[in-house]
Amino acid sequence: MIQFEENERVAGEVFLRLAGTTDEFEAYAHPHAVRVARLADELAKVFRLARADRSALLFAALSHDIGEMTMKRDYIKRNGSLTEEERVDLARHPVIGEQEAARAGASRGTQLLVRWHHEWWNGAGYPDALRGEQIPLAARLLHVADAYASLTDARPFRPARTEAEARVHLAEWAGIEFDPRVTRAFLAIHALPEPRSYAGAAEAIARRPEMDERRASATPSILGL
Ligand SMILES: [Fe+2]
Ligand SMILES: [Fe+2]
Repeated sequence: MIQFEENERVAGEVFLRLAGTTDEFEAYAHPHAVRVARLADELAKVFRLARADRSALLFAALSHDIGEMTMKRDYIKRNGSLTEEERVDLARHPVIGEQEAARAGASRGTQLLVRWHHEWWNGAGYPDALRGEQIPLAARLLHVADAYASLTDARPFRPARTEAEARVHLAEWAGIEFDPRVTRAFLAIHALPEPRSYAGAAEAIARRPEMDERRASATPSILGL
């Protein structure tokens, strides 16, 4: 569940819908945007972002890949890696997303976070090749949340990584792709607000009935019946 402040509820519905249609278009194994939003919001709490920044980040997380949906390229769903031309083409999605977020009524802060969600700590990201603290903190949080959510879910060209593998990846790329301080904080969060990985999800589903039974018997009825 994503919690919105009272005054954000209407816009929240709009952005949740946008997230839903983007997720549908990408057709990944699990809804990506909502998952990124939960993780980013958890980081926002750890870094005690001001209310306006936390809400800009939440909206940006929900809409970070709407540019992909506007571009509607078939190669996103194709099995196999992208050609060089496709990679260059896809790298336009943060700027197109910034414009789309504006059209959807997002604040300028949200628009810029969408624009900068693929900037790298060492300046090798896009579209503006910002580096280090030139990248606003909220965009650095969004990048880590996005990367972790992507890694732990399957893509048409690779299986989901386990939580442990994703954590190693983040640690190895801290200081290169990711802000080291943000990475450290993320890795220190013990209770991530969602499944930690979808690797071996089939196994988890197979185990579920037994777990549900156990939970049901352990949970006292509210009515005491
Ligand atoms: Fe993206
Ligand atoms: Fe993403």
